[in-house]
Amino acid sequence: MKPSTPEAMNQQRFYEAHRLDDGVARQAGFNPYYPLIESALDDPLVIGGREFINLASNNYLGLSNDTRVVEAAISGIRKYGVSMCSTPVAAGYSDLFRKAEKALSAFSGLEESLIFPSCYQANNGLFQAIAHDGDLVVVDRFAHSSLVEGIKTAGCRYRPFRHNDMEHLEDILARSGEYNQVFVVTESVFSTEGSIAPFREINEICLRHGAIPVVDDSHGIGVLGKTGRGILEYSGIEDYQGIYTASLGKALATAGGMIAGKKPLMDYLRYSVSHLIYSTAILPAALQALIKVLEIIDMEFPVISLRLWDHTRKLGKGLQEAGYALTGTTTPIVSILSGDSLSTLTLSKMMHEQGILGTPFIYPSVPETEGCIRLIAGANLKPQSVDRAIRIFQQMAMVHA
Ligand SMILES: Cc1ncc(COP(=O)(O)O)c(C=O)c1O
Repeated sequence: MKPSTPEAMNQQRFYEAHRLDDGVARQAGFNPYYPLIESALDDPLVIGGREFINLASNNYLGLSNDTRVVEAAISGIRKYGVSMCSTPVAAGYSDLFRKAEKALSAFSGLEESLIFPSCYQANNGLFQAIAHDGDLVVVDRFAHSSLVEGIKTAGCRYRPFRHNDMEHLEDILARSGEYNQVFVVTESVFSTEGSIAPFREINEICLRHGAIPVVDDSHGIGVLGKTGRGILEYSGIEDYQGIYTASLGKALATAGGMIAGKKPLMDYLRYSVSHLIYSTAILPAALQALIKVLEIIDMEFPVISLRLWDHTRKLGKGLQEAGYALTGTTTPIVSILSGDSLSTLTLSKMMHEQGILGTPFIYPSVPETEGCIRLIAGANLKPQSVDRAIRIFQQMAMVHA
């Protein structure tokens, strides 16, 4: 119906300008996003009443539905209820919250930790509190949107450096003398393609130039390093002088995000990051589960991570032998380079038909021709499931050849 007044036309224009463009999904005959999962992250996973091999979740250590973790979450609810219904600075903080912060500090080896409802909030809020007019943030070109969006709204200058290119980074820093403070920001394990930042070198470059390093270890915590402590352990960095952030919703199998580092800075951030101060505190169940997950990693990391790496190596080798182009196999992120958006969704559709769940990345998350499908074979998968996934990928490659 045609709107009858200028005001109604104005409203109609607004709604027309904000319609989803799902042209590629319609062309591919498949939309892989928001899959309707009907089970816990078990093997198999259930979607639409069908069984799937789950290669999509960041549940690296397979602990999200571990009975001990589930029981811990329930005990958190029993004591504290479902929610504290308040922001941490008001009445959302608790002895459990403090215990979880301390557990994270001990785990990461850093002086003090803050826990946010999500790492998106942690990353997004951090820069508004620390980077001001006259400061420069130099950030890896592939860094996660939570970091980039946070930096862009902070009121400081922003410069990307070429992915993992230390010469480019050094060059930018050498020409950044006019800024009050320079920050260097990177992910540890890059979330779409699984490359690892040369963080030891980045840290040394920062020390040479008086810059503050910021690392998002979302895909490294619980995965990298001899005991799963993440990028700092992996890089052999002791007495880290920078800022550390990580999601608690990946290998740590719960939810939330952390910022950790020197205590005086964390004390300041506790009262200055809006995304912590003005948002309802992370739920008690997640905090109690997190404490249990950290205990399990402390006790069982060698055994659990061996399963993760066995699966990863097997999957990477099988896919390479079947002729798939991969971004790399040095981390548990095995991504198939799938070309443009349409090819990516077409491959994703074939996987769906065969009962394999992966994570497709298409434009605008990645450049139009650099689509990929991320696969993570978590430690809770049965070896037979990984074998079966490889066989399916091999058959799909033959059909497609
Ligand atoms: C590298 C990276 N940083 C931050 C986040 C956000 O973490 P969270 O899910 O805890 O908000 C993600 C999650 O996708 C991520 O991959």
